[in-house]
Amino acid sequence: MKSLPRSIDNAFPLIFAPIDGITDAPFRSAIDKHFPRWDYFFTDFFRVPSNPSARFSEKIILGHLGDSVYRNQKLRQKTVLQFLVSAHGKKQSGQLAKLVSDMEIPWLDINVGCPSKKVFGHQGGAYLLGDLDNLRAIVQEIRKNYLYFLSAKIRLGINDDANFTEIIKLLQDEGVDLITLHPRTRAQFYNGKSNWQYITQAVQQLNIPVIGNGDVNSTDDIWRMKEETGCYGVMIGRSAVTNPLLAKNYKEKTDQNLTWPQLSLFLDDVKIAYLEQNVEPWQILKRLKLLLKLMGTMIDGQQIYQRLTMKNLIAFENSLKEIIPTT
Ligand SMILES: Cc1cc2nc3c(=O)[nH]c(=O)nc-3n(C[C@H](O)[C@H](O)[C@H](O)COP(=O)(O)O)c2cc1C
Repeated sequence: MKSLPRSIDNAFPLIFAPIDGITDAPFRSAIDKHFPRWDYFFTDFFRVPSNPSARFSEKIILGHLGDSVYRNQKLRQKTVLQFLVSAHGKKQSGQLAKLVSDMEIPWLDINVGCPSKKVFGHQGGAYLLGDLDNLRAIVQEIRKNYLYFLSAKIRLGINDDANFTEIIKLLQDEGVDLITLHPRTRAQFYNGKSNWQYITQAVQQLNIPVIGNGDVNSTDDIWRMKEETGCYGVMIGRSAVTNPLLAKNYKEKTDQNLTWPQLSLFLDDVKIAYLEQNVEPWQILKRLKLLLKLMGTMIDGQQIYQRLTMKNLIAFENSLKEIIPTT
């Protein structure tokens, strides 16, 4: 079994899930600084172009991974670049895999679970759970070109679990080093429950490590998923965004809640990173409001919701400083 890229404390890896529209480089870097003890961060998906004559450069990859993340050895080792592949993108997947291998990006993930209608329509993401010939060919192409740690993030299947065992075995046989399983079907999107029994099944049927994912909302849930399934680590998405202290609380056996000063300093760092990237103020404002809305639910709803109507970045920033700490 290949070992995972180095992390701070590998005892039981906790992984911050990819969330499209949230987990960009400024967000990931600020989480690592303000809410430590996450072992790994996934980028949201990088769409591999389906146009066979598309040209690739390091710059495109760095734009997604984060230039500053790449230059910071510690953060680079903790960051997983995720590709969203489609049945049309075999050759391009291989070319991009070669590029990121040459860049010594230590962990590459293939998204085989995205349920979105648009992605599915382009024969990408979860579509490949029902097109195993193309899935195999794409994984082979990537594996051939990428020298480091390769994983796949999957769901159970498109409408049911009929192909599940075949899918996980295929990935293992083709040289994938780790599987993250979100045990819902594509048809479920985010409805129903994440069925952890399939995580147990994958752990029992595979020799490679399995990361469990889905509906982990508390430190108790982390513990329960670990005990019930025997998974190698736990990935947390929505609840990691609303409560980024989950990793620290689990590892240090504490029960801290996010405080206003913590959130305020965090948002300030996200803002600075965007300004450094020359992002337009209105876009920064939009992004900060979204983060405040998601992360502020744990603090003082009333004070925070008033700030969501602010029309410009300066007024928004000033108003944040006025919020009375609730600690
Ligand atoms: C808004 C949103 C965006 C997401 N974007 C991605 C993505 O880019 N790549 C991916 O593999 N999964 C993505 N996911 C799925 C999550 O990574 C995770 O698998 C899912 O939310 C289940 O975990 P949770 O119950 O801990 O949230 C996304 C989920 C949501 C809700």
